[in-house]
Amino acid sequence: MASPDLVPCRPWQGRRVLLGVTGGVAAYKAVQVARNLTRLEAQVDVVLTRGAQEFVAPLSFEGVTGRPALTELFSTDGAAMHVRLGRNVDAVCVAPATADFLARAAQGRADDLLGTTLLATQAPVVVCPAMNDNMFAHPQVQANLNMLKARPGYQIAGPTAGPLAAGEGEGPGRMLEPHQIVEFIGRALGEEKVFSGLHILVTAGPTREAIDPVRYLGNRSSGRMGFAVARAAWRRGAQVTLITGPSALEYPVGVNSIEVESAEEMYRAVSEIIGAADVSIFAAAVADFRPSISEAEKLKRESTGEEVAFQIEANPDIAIETSSSRKPGSVTVGFALETSDLLANAKKKLDEKEFDFIVANDAMGEGSGFDVETNRVAILSPGSDPEMLPLMSKDAVAEEILDRVGRRLSSEL
Ligand code: CTP
Repeated sequence: MASPDLVPCRPWQGRRVLLGVTGGVAAYKAVQVARNLTRLEAQVDVVLTRGAQEFVAPLSFEGVTGRPALTELFSTDGAAMHVRLGRNVDAVCVAPATADFLARAAQGRADDLLGTTLLATQAPVVVCPAMNDNMFAHPQVQANLNMLKARPGYQIAGPTAGPLAAGEGEGPGRMLEPHQIVEFIGRALGEEKVFSGLHILVTAGPTREAIDPVRYLGNRSSGRMGFAVARAAWRRGAQVTLITGPSALEYPVGVNSIEVESAEEMYRAVSEIIGAADVSIFAAAVADFRPSISEAEKLKRESTGEEVAFQIEANPDIAIETSSSRKPGSVTVGFALETSDLLANAKKKLDEKEFDFIVANDAMGEGSGFDVETNRVAILSPGSDPEMLPLMSKDAVAEEILDRVGRRLSSEL
């Protein structure tokens, strides 16, 4: 499955992250975490425990971060290193976090560089447990974990079920994948008061309208834009529901993702949720039409002949049909994908669909449209001049949209 590309972007770019690595076999994956964070242009300092160095060498981390990896509590250049490290970071992540680490962190032990730094820091801490499934299920491990969970600023990320070390089981104990850990660090860095705990609904992807059990009418859409908005909203601290048509993309971590197929199914799913949503963002490329009759059996060429005529009918306009159910005071964002008269067509949709903002993009423009990582958009809102944004990654466009939603929410407080 495709994972998001690593273009430098908020909230990682220019931020300082301390990655603590403890002694488990999943330590090799921590190298990828350090590399991903560095590619996102975070400044990454790595602290390895003695156990971690049995699995992976400090040099591997130096190679991917371009910074010295740290191992010693007592050293001449490390004098009060724990205090400096703790003070100078924006977020801490411990991956993998072994059972021994959880026990020591729960007790507040301070006999190595990682333990002391954790006590010295006020930055948020993401803990990514990884161990054998029986060990993870042990009541003492769970008690230690619960203690850390209750600590302000601490977030426990994972583990998941899945193949463990060779010869072991498949129960919960497997560390999250590096790109998922990076998202958790993103939430630790990106949480904003105005989004914290808000419910954000995002529609994404295409819809498929069945002609018969194997064929469909549909719109071209990868889902990238909507998925980027959902990820960015979660990083800002929102509770996110993503209602998506079929997409090859991996579901974003932390987001409640609901897959639907047809416009009708998307309409029903949105209707159920929109009344509770503080923000609704309609990024789906909904198929406007569907065959009036969906055949129960696959259509055969010998029975249709060379020319086939379909009767098609309009699908519900989800944004319009659900507008009366929107939560009072909520903010709504639509998209307009156009092939001509971009601003005029977008303005018309902004008014007709009663959006607070509409994000307009030209399907034919270079770097925007289908199956590309970038987009060039204009953002319109009632009573303001259109804002033309430069070509940027879809992740950056998502941030621009949420900046405006955040400002609108703050002005309504
Ligand atoms: N939309 C929707 N339900 C539909 C069609 C569109 O909710 N059945 C939403 C889209 O998610 C988007 C906005 O309405 O936020 C505009 O979608 P777009 O496909 O650009 O416009 P249409 O209204 O379908 O108009 P047209 O196809 O004629 O350009």
